Amino acid sequence: MNLRGRDFLTLKDFTPEEIAYLVDLAADYKRKKKANIPVDSLRGKNIALIFEKTSTRTRCSFEVAARDLGLGCTYLDPSVSQIGKKESIADTARVLCSMYDGIEYRGYGQEIVEELAKYSSVPVWNGLTNEYHPTQMLADMLTMKEVFGDIKGRKLCYVGDARYNTGNSLMIMCTKMGLHFAAAAPKEYFPDPELVKTCEEYAKASGGSILLTEDAKEAAKDADVIYTDVWVSMGEPDEIWEKRIKDLMPYQVNSTLMSYAKPDAIFLHCLPAFHDLKTQTGKEKGEQFGITEMEVTDEVFESPQSKVFQEAENRMHTIKAVIAATLGA
Ligand code: CP
Ligand code: NVA
Repeated sequence: MNLRGRDFLTLKDFTPEEIAYLVDLAADYKRKKKANIPVDSLRGKNIALIFEKTSTRTRCSFEVAARDLGLGCTYLDPSVSQIGKKESIADTARVLCSMYDGIEYRGYGQEIVEELAKYSSVPVWNGLTNEYHPTQMLADMLTMKEVFGDIKGRKLCYVGDARYNTGNSLMIMCTKMGLHFAAAAPKEYFPDPELVKTCEEYAKASGGSILLTEDAKEAAKDADVIYTDVWVSMGEPDEIWEKRIKDLMPYQVNSTLMSYAKPDAIFLHCLPAFHDLKTQTGKEKGEQFGITEMEVTDEVFESPQSKVFQEAENRMHTIKAVIAATLGA
């Protein structure tokens, strides 16, 4: 498998075999990390990380993975760079690719990361856009593989805003890899019909399937994985909280919803999660709307079924695999 020189913008651009290869490579890097085996064969190369939205996991994963691989790494946030304000994406791409061997971008529209990739002669990695979150998917697959072994034929139930980055990418990942994807949300939160059509084609080839329903119980029935994401994503306006809470509260992951899934089902969440009032936003919104939890209850989040911290750790191993494979480690 040779992915050298490839961009990593959405899983749509990769075959199931290539995706499986990246997950296996990540598992190998994880094993080596635990055994203290050095993997710094990319010494002398450098990568740039552009973050137009905030991050804990993705930024730390790129930085730690880079260091482990022997790479130098520059972090750029919008307040310290010219990007978007005084310099176009096309010009930024041409400057950065003359100095760096790879560029990560987290920000708004998918067209921005596509533009960056178009003008860059080095690999560009999508660290999250409004539409997709592909590196998250590799971590989710690695986690499911660690728990279940083979993931083909498993059922993943996603509840919440199913038309945004995480929901979209889960539908792509599941249908490419032969999983059954079920999403429950009010109709206005269903994914884009064009993307659904594309994913139905993937499902035909892989043996997977798609179910979109307003009934959370139907989606969760006999699921192996229950997955949710925040109800209001980064970059969305503050005014929408009230409507989101009202619309999505029936889709909260709680012990009743978990009881419809298989007894050995796991709970996943890309994080950060609002499962209590211990964050500034959680406290503020909790008080404002008279709630104590949002997309997932604290009980489920802290339960043995919850694999969210294993999933978060796997972000680093999988991002390392993407960097290594595309830079030809
Ligand atoms: N899951 C995820 O992308 O987390 P961060 O926003 O902290 O990077
Ligand atoms: N949908 C979330 C994902 C965070 C990792 C957001 O875009 O904020």
